[in-house]
Amino acid sequence: MDWHIPKGKAGRQKGSREKRQDKKKAYKNTQEKEEEKVIDLEQTLVIIKPDAVNRALSGEIIKRFENKGLQIVALKMLELTPYVLKEHYAHHKDKDFFEGLLGFMASIPSIAMILQGKEAVAVVRKMVGPTQGREAAPGTLRGDYSVSNQSNIVHASEDKDAAEAEIKRFFKKEEIHDYQKMDFDWIYSKDEKYLKK
Ligand code: CMP
Repeated sequence: MDWHIPKGKAGRQKGSREKRQDKKKAYKNTQEKEEEKVIDLEQTLVIIKPDAVNRALSGEIIKRFENKGLQIVALKMLELTPYVLKEHYAHHKDKDFFEGLLGFMASIPSIAMILQGKEAVAVVRKMVGPTQGREAAPGTLRGDYSVSNQSNIVHASEDKDAAEAEIKRFFKKEEIHDYQKMDFDWIYSKDEKYLKK
């Protein structure tokens, strides 16, 4: 008996039809395994504001997010125009600080990035802290680096809907990168990776 020849049901050598079916089955299994790996990752937008860029805090800010385990999937420096700023801060248009805010945000370039992770929107907001730097708790970015309402070093999307709109506002699809981080398996547990939430 030749052990190396694949045998069909009746113990005979497999025909080309059976071999095709085997290939299909193997393909389906790998597809299912890949689908299993898909987890519920969120993306959120962060802008490193002109005060932080000027104070050379950009590296420190990026490092904090990376150390936390968030994945950078897009990043660029950009000059924010009055047009985009008016849209971005439309909900503040009646506030007395609106004009000052536009001037501040357009003063020098900012750095925009998209961070990805499980519940990334809430995780990033927690790391950033409340608007007023003087009230932000130590350990948060604003708590550690800001003593101001306006110059509060970063912007982070408020919720999932805002994140979606803001990502579209500042990034083209082709600027957002889809890649698997090497340390992914060490950042989340097996359950967190395979289950939704
Ligand atoms: P952010 O929360 O990212 O988005 C709105 C921005 O408006 C806020 O950061 C500050 O930069 C700015 N801002 C909010 N409140 C005030 C205020 N009272 N005076 C000046 N600027 C403010």
